[in-house]
Amino acid sequence: MCGIIGYVGSKQAAPILLEGLSKLEYRGYDSAGIAVFSDDGITVKKSRGRLSVLSEMTDSGTNVSGTVGIGHTRWATHGEPSDVNSHPHLSSSGRFAVVHNGIIENYIPLKKKLMDKGIEFVSETDTEVVAHLFEYYYNGDVIDTMIKVIERVEGSYALGILSLDQPNEFIAVRKASPMIVGLGEGENFIASDVTAILNHTRNIYYLEDDEIVVLRADGVKVYNVDREEVKKEPFQVSWDVSAAEKGGYEHFMMKEIEEQPKALAETINPRIQDGKIVLDDISLTADYVKGINKIYIIACGSAYHVGVVGKYVIEKLCRIPVEAIVASEFRYSDPLITDKDLAIIISQSGETADTLAALKEAKSKGARTIGIVNVVGSAIANASDDVLYTWAGPEIAVATTKAYSTQLSVIYLLSVYMAKLAGRIDDAEYTKLVEEIKRLPELVSGILEKKEQVQYLASKFFNCHSIFFIGRNLDYAVSLEGSLKLKEISYIHSEAYAAGELKHGTISLIENGTLVVALATGDALFDKTVSNIKEVKARGAVVLGLAKADEPHRQDSGDYVIELPRVNELFMPSLAVIPLQLFGYYVASLKGCDIDKPRNLAKSVTVE
Ligand code: AGP
Repeated sequence: MCGIIGYVGSKQAAPILLEGLSKLEYRGYDSAGIAVFSDDGITVKKSRGRLSVLSEMTDSGTNVSGTVGIGHTRWATHGEPSDVNSHPHLSSSGRFAVVHNGIIENYIPLKKKLMDKGIEFVSETDTEVVAHLFEYYYNGDVIDTMIKVIERVEGSYALGILSLDQPNEFIAVRKASPMIVGLGEGENFIASDVTAILNHTRNIYYLEDDEIVVLRADGVKVYNVDREEVKKEPFQVSWDVSAAEKGGYEHFMMKEIEEQPKALAETINPRIQDGKIVLDDISLTADYVKGINKIYIIACGSAYHVGVVGKYVIEKLCRIPVEAIVASEFRYSDPLITDKDLAIIISQSGETADTLAALKEAKSKGARTIGIVNVVGSAIANASDDVLYTWAGPEIAVATTKAYSTQLSVIYLLSVYMAKLAGRIDDAEYTKLVEEIKRLPELVSGILEKKEQVQYLASKFFNCHSIFFIGRNLDYAVSLEGSLKLKEISYIHSEAYAAGELKHGTISLIENGTLVVALATGDALFDKTVSNIKEVKARGAVVLGLAKADEPHRQDSGDYVIELPRVNELFMPSLAVIPLQLFGYYVASLKGCDIDKPRNLAKSVTVE
């Protein structure tokens, strides 16, 4: 997630900006930059790489003079990590400098409109559109100009803007992206979160969406979009720095679980325009899709579990054979993959050694490759023929949640897109499926609001020594992820099993009190799954069921039942996984485990 900071006061701004950015490093970034008002205008220093590069470039900020400035750490979404794509971005005349956290969802049409007016762009970012738009609408009044800009941009933004005509102040605004205002003595700040300014002040304003703030050394004024001044109540921050890094959450994992609605919206919304799926610059044609012989979905761990969901979804919609396979098996299996096949490579980090090797193996046999990756410019992203990024922001917790969920959403978009291209679905079904995908952020948000129910259930079962997760079809695919989430952070042994397969051996392990988590969210297979639930209950199991709230016989799915809202069956995994993420989290929390950094695990497995 990008980090922004701004300062106006009597001290030299650059060292304060660099110090603030260092407190935001935990948010994950790939480049950094500052812009400071100096004697000869706005000085911009920025570069790809760690903050140390910028610090060296500016001699720890001492070679950039000025008492007003903005700073930024960039987590690449649009445009790979590079010096030119780093923030701040300048308008054509250099009179405005912009830092931005978030995603401008309509940057493509805005960029085209500005280019048609002769404005030249130097970067691949969505943010640069804001710099040129600000200059385009600038009428001498920065508040009026900011109002015009935010009336035209769609998406999420926390913006800080320097204007050459106003050397003693700067302007900022936020929408759906965090920003706070720091209130000091003769100095004032903006920041993505309080960690960046806790050394200077604990007095802050929390900004609401579309509140515009003008900061000067002697004071801060907040306006709404009608240009009416807004009276804000200062808030006294009591957090310590480490708590603040997690936004007040005890663990990054819970923060990231809670970020899923936003991560889903930022991954889905820019790819649905006027009711149609727009898959970035990926160039799939109808002939190509119709000519695909087989699709391989290759990944590791949770990303592989997304692949298992993808198998069911793509086969159902596109009627193309799909094999989901773990990368470490694929790469050494002398695979039969050919140039008639498509390989979908899924990876949060984009650096997993087995997955990268499998990608290269697939390419060596002529297959086309599409990467679904969360880190822009990563090895797997760069090595793939096409890339569909998950815009989940950096994922800090070792146990993936928001990356898994956004990977699912990209698989849905790709599946529906290919099914339409191949003529497998008509316009009506296409429209309905697209609408259902768009509902996911809100549905996930609703499930998260009931997380206390899962917390209660975890308190009943956190002492279990072995827990089974069962389901059929897509529910089986999700049970794989539920089992892994539990294992990797609570260290409780767990197995995911196709519900119909239990009776072929493993059911011998079921004894009095064994907890079985049964996913029964599919309409067509509900009764079959209930039969399997009865089988394990007959042998003493306690069953925690997951079922749709409108399933008339939902109480048959377990001794305890977590009820889920209804969405198109193909997309139910995005809902069913949420309680399982929470269950793993709360069980591990009750066991006192190191949730963000579980033993033996790394966030990115860059070795075989
Ligand atoms: C999931 O919670 C684990 N951290 C792990 O299984 C992970 O999904 C796997 O190592 C793949 O990582 P990647 O997505 O970065 O390639």
